[in-house]
Amino acid sequence: MKIRELGPLGAEVTNIDLKKTNKNHLALIKKYFLEYSVLIFRDQNLVPEELKRLSTLWGEPMVHPVFKGIEGHPEIIEIRNYGEKYHTNAHWHSDVTFEHTPPDATLLYSLIVPEKGGDTLFSNQYLAYDELEYDIKTELENKKAVHSNIGVLMLSGGDPKDAKTVEHPIFRTHPETGKKALYVTEAFVKEIKDINKKDSQEKLKYLYAHASQEKFIYRHHWLKGDLVIWDNRCVQHYAEHGYGDNERTMHRLTTSGSKPF
Ligand code: SIN
Repeated sequence: MKIRELGPLGAEVTNIDLKKTNKNHLALIKKYFLEYSVLIFRDQNLVPEELKRLSTLWGEPMVHPVFKGIEGHPEIIEIRNYGEKYHTNAHWHSDVTFEHTPPDATLLYSLIVPEKGGDTLFSNQYLAYDELEYDIKTELENKKAVHSNIGVLMLSGGDPKDAKTVEHPIFRTHPETGKKALYVTEAFVKEIKDINKKDSQEKLKYLYAHASQEKFIYRHHWLKGDLVIWDNRCVQHYAEHGYGDNERTMHRLTTSGSKPF
C-alpha cells in the first residue's frame, strides 16, 4: 500500500484492492484518514456489502434520516443525475449536520461517471479555522450555529412544518486528532445563536467565503470505480455539476458519529 499526498488535504492510496484488506491495511487506512482527511482509492470493484464492511472502520453504517436507501441496503443512498437543473449537492456542506450526532465519515463510490464535469471539491476546515482572524475567532469561540434539515426535507417532498433544528459549536474539536475545525455549512446553517440576525447573516457570509477559498481545496475528478472517503468533522465538500444530461451515478454511505463539541 502506498500513499500520495494531493494538496491542502487528501491523499491517494494505491497498491490496494479493498476487497482483500487485512488488519494491518485497515489500521493504516484509519491512520491515513486522520492524517489527510480525504482518501482516494482508484479502480475498485465494490458491491454494497463490501462498502458496508469497510464503513465499519469508522462506525455503524447510518440510515439517512430523509433519503431512502437502495433495495436491500437502507444505509446506501444512490446519488443520481437528473439533468443540469438537479444540483442537489452543489453547495458547501458537511454531511447531515442537522442531526445531533452527524456522521463521522462518508464513503462515496462511483458507478457511472461523465467524461467531463461532476467533480467533487473538498475543503480543509482545520486550515480554515487556523487562518481565521484573531478577532472573529475570539468573538465566536463559544458560539453555536443553528442547523436545519428544511432543505433536504423539501427536496424529498416532505412538509416544511416537520423541519427540525439542532445546535452545534461553530468551531468543532476533532475527537480523535484534538484539532479545531471551522464547522458552519452554507447548506444547513440558518443562523448563529445569541447574536442579532443582521450580525449573524454578515458573519456567516464571511465564514462561508473564508471556508471555501481555493487554497484550502482539493478537486476530485471522478473515474469509474473510485472510492473516496472523507472526514465530516473537518472537511466540507461541494458537488459540482457541469455534465449536462450525461449520467453520473454514485453509491453513498455515511457512518455513525458523535455529538460535536
Ligand atoms: C454529497 O454531497 O454527499 C455527494 C457529493 C457528490 O455527489 O459528489
